[in-house]
Amino acid sequence: MPKVIILGQEEIEVEEGANLLRVIQQHGYDRNLPATCDGRCTCSTCGVRVLTGGDEVKPCEKDLLKDQIEKKWRLSCQVLVEQDVEVEVPGYEVAEAMEIEPGLLADILDFAAEHLVYIGNPRPTGLSLKRLKDLRHRVEVIVEGGGDPADYKFLRDVLEELLERDLIKEIPSQHPFTERTIELMIQVFEKRIPEPIEEREEILTYPYYLYVVFTIFFLLLGGLSLYALLVDAPLEQAATPTFTPNPEKAPWYFLGIQELLADSPNLGGVFNSIAIGGVILPGLVVFFWLAIPYIEPYVEFRRSGRTRAPGRRLSERPVTVAAFTLSIFLFVVLVIIGTYFRGPNWEFVLPWR
Ligand code: FES
Repeated sequence: MPKVIILGQEEIEVEEGANLLRVIQQHGYDRNLPATCDGRCTCSTCGVRVLTGGDEVKPCEKDLLKDQIEKKWRLSCQVLVEQDVEVEVPGYEVAEAMEIEPGLLADILDFAAEHLVYIGNPRPTGLSLKRLKDLRHRVEVIVEGGGDPADYKFLRDVLEELLERDLIKEIPSQHPFTERTIELMIQVFEKRIPEPIEEREEILTYPYYLYVVFTIFFLLLGGLSLYALLVDAPLEQAATPTFTPNPEKAPWYFLGIQELLADSPNLGGVFNSIAIGGVILPGLVVFFWLAIPYIEPYVEFRRSGRTRAPGRRLSERPVTVAAFTLSIFLFVVLVIIGTYFRGPNWEFVLPWR
């Protein structure tokens, strides 16, 4: 009978062809696997990492998990156990499950102090008796998770060095261990080292974002300065209370609204053209602008049953970006019409006539 090995927890013998999700549920490891679609392959909330074994990846898994498949993620509801499988279940990862014996770690550090420090080119760089002694004094705290990332990186490198030099069997300790124990300890320490910044989806405001902002700012300033040099401002006579120019145009940034007022239908009552063009339509546009960052994640959740919102990058929100760009474009068109294509009595005119 094949085995489901839940890493760091237990090995379970199952019938050939057993459904992995059901095995996990029956043995109580589904605390973090709500499996909300109950095996219909639409929710992706039953994801586990299948490290070895496991049958062929199904098309619906490819749709939902995309490049996570390369990191060995599978939807457990789609996995049939045909052979031994090693599984890492969220919430029961080896790092969380493994209890490192502080005495064993102390013995390893003593051994490293005697055997690694004096070997040529040992890893990690900076390996010294002082550093090893310092860690030796703090093993209890470090095992409890109270060390800093540099400690865990150092310990991981020491253990890897001992493994590579095939010295593990020579470590004297009253605590039983095997090479596998050391490998698991490496995984534990590895998980406690934060990802380097460049591997995270992060872009620093300074300097990258500021470069973009300042470049746009200076281009805009240069363009406006050039325009001001080449084109005279359309100044008119000094205003007098006795004369109203025809057409009476608002400043350019309100011309879009003025154009909207002129184009809006009069539906009678409170829905006259002024209310529609001056309040209702602009209000709806502003409301739409406020809502679009939420619309796309919502639609995406409904469409694909994803559990993670799309990121904030432009490429991940094409609908949001397209909708916003289109509304800005329409606003600019209205301003251009109001500026150049409206004449006396707000009649439509062609500027070149
Ligand atoms: S339970 Fe929903 S995809 Fe597996």
